[in-house]
Amino acid sequence: MISQILRDARKYEETTEKINSDTIRPAFHLSTRVGWMNDPNGFSFYKGEYHLFYQYHPYNSHWGLMYWGHAVSKDLLHWTYLPAALAPDTAYDRDGCFSGSAVTLPDGRQLLMYTGVLKETQPDGSTCDIQTQCIAVGDGIDYEKYLKNPVLSEKDLPEGASKYDFRDPKIFQKSDGSFGCVIGNCDSKKDGQILLYNSLDGFNWRFDKILEANKGRLGKMWECPDFFTLDGKQVLIISPQDMMPQGFEYHNGNGTVCMIGEYDEETNIFQEEHTQTVDYGIDFYAAQTVLAPDGRRIMIGWMQNWDTCNMNSSEQPWFGQMSLPRELSIKNGRLIQKPIKELDNIHKNEVRYENITFTDIIKLEGIKGRKIDMELNLQSNSEQNIYRKFAVRFAQNDTYQTSISFRPYESIIKVDRKFSGSRRAIIHQRRSLVRNENGKIKLRIILDNFSVEVFVNDGEQVLSTTIYTDLKADHISFFADGLVTMDVVKYDLIAEDVYGEN
Ligand code: FRU
Repeated sequence: MISQILRDARKYEETTEKINSDTIRPAFHLSTRVGWMNDPNGFSFYKGEYHLFYQYHPYNSHWGLMYWGHAVSKDLLHWTYLPAALAPDTAYDRDGCFSGSAVTLPDGRQLLMYTGVLKETQPDGSTCDIQTQCIAVGDGIDYEKYLKNPVLSEKDLPEGASKYDFRDPKIFQKSDGSFGCVIGNCDSKKDGQILLYNSLDGFNWRFDKILEANKGRLGKMWECPDFFTLDGKQVLIISPQDMMPQGFEYHNGNGTVCMIGEYDEETNIFQEEHTQTVDYGIDFYAAQTVLAPDGRRIMIGWMQNWDTCNMNSSEQPWFGQMSLPRELSIKNGRLIQKPIKELDNIHKNEVRYENITFTDIIKLEGIKGRKIDMELNLQSNSEQNIYRKFAVRFAQNDTYQTSISFRPYESIIKVDRKFSGSRRAIIHQRRSLVRNENGKIKLRIILDNFSVEVFVNDGEQVLSTTIYTDLKADHISFFADGLVTMDVVKYDLIAEDVYGEN
């Protein structure tokens, strides 16, 4: 049975989407159908398609009462919207259906596990959100909430664990077919921790242990965990709130962090060996992964930043987009992220230059655009004469530009959107330490109307940033202080009609 609240949202999104059909959106990054989008939820492969749900407030372009939006795709680039999947329509989730995940049950149904939010009035009249874990089961379009919800609540918490910060269940299947689930939480000192629960059938859950605890290292509350094996290692991804930077890692605020280590399925002990930032740009949070049918571990994140995302006008019909899905691997103990290989299928109009040596500013015939995949291979023209700075400027005209610059002596790459059209005193720059040898470095830059994602040295670092520049600003230029020798390959990214059905 579909509730009236969900039926209203489904009707609203369908009619409002038509009214706003001429607004310009990202071409191949998933954006919200209408209203507001945050975290990716329930990222899964079900009945032959990828399903991506998302935190969703259909009724305006700001965060509010949370629903789950829903879209499907065959290639993670062409998305088709489905009706909203979950609404805050039940006694235990009437103040929001927060983030969660999806698995396929042995009987073929899809199980969603999400956080139900209920406001509790405090003695002083203020309110706090009580968070519990709830289940809904469905066929890929309609989902029915489980009669015994919530399946995890205060009574299932270890001593000192907060019932107010208990959210974002991510289910995974173990090698014996049973299920595990990691959930974000904080302890009595408001310090982040990840709780591990087990279930034989996906419905009945038991607390197992505190899988990992912050102990004051990385921010405060830990949100949106994911936990999976990758290249013989175990990976725990978390999104801590309120972090303080340490060198070039863990930039201020909310960000996503990856811990790589060993995991013993018998004892459920996770031994952390290496920890790093996932994305060194401005906009990336609440990442979630899926195991593709061909064995790839693919990650997607919300391409936004909580500290800068509420500047948009309420008149805007939609706000929020996902990152490009990325294929993950581990090399030398570090996380490597590459754009999904499906991106190559939408390459058009190749433009290629080899061995161009230049100084000062150049433009190259055929190199422009706001939906492009461009790879730059840079080097110095001699080992004795390393250039001091390189920059590529894009989304550019006489008024605007965004840039990626690189200084080989410091080995630092920087994204700068100060001149992207922003009128707010928000963060406009981020830097990352990268690897280079005498100025040799590879940059893959992906633009999609309102974003830039830079993959450095085949995915050793990624920097993702949104921009809101007028689309007429589509020039690209290159700058060198010193002599740079460069190869360029550029493709337009054209996402229409690859399958003739979107
Ligand atoms: C992370 C988050 C989650 C929560 C959701 C609410 O961005 O705060 O912890 O489930 O957003 O929309």
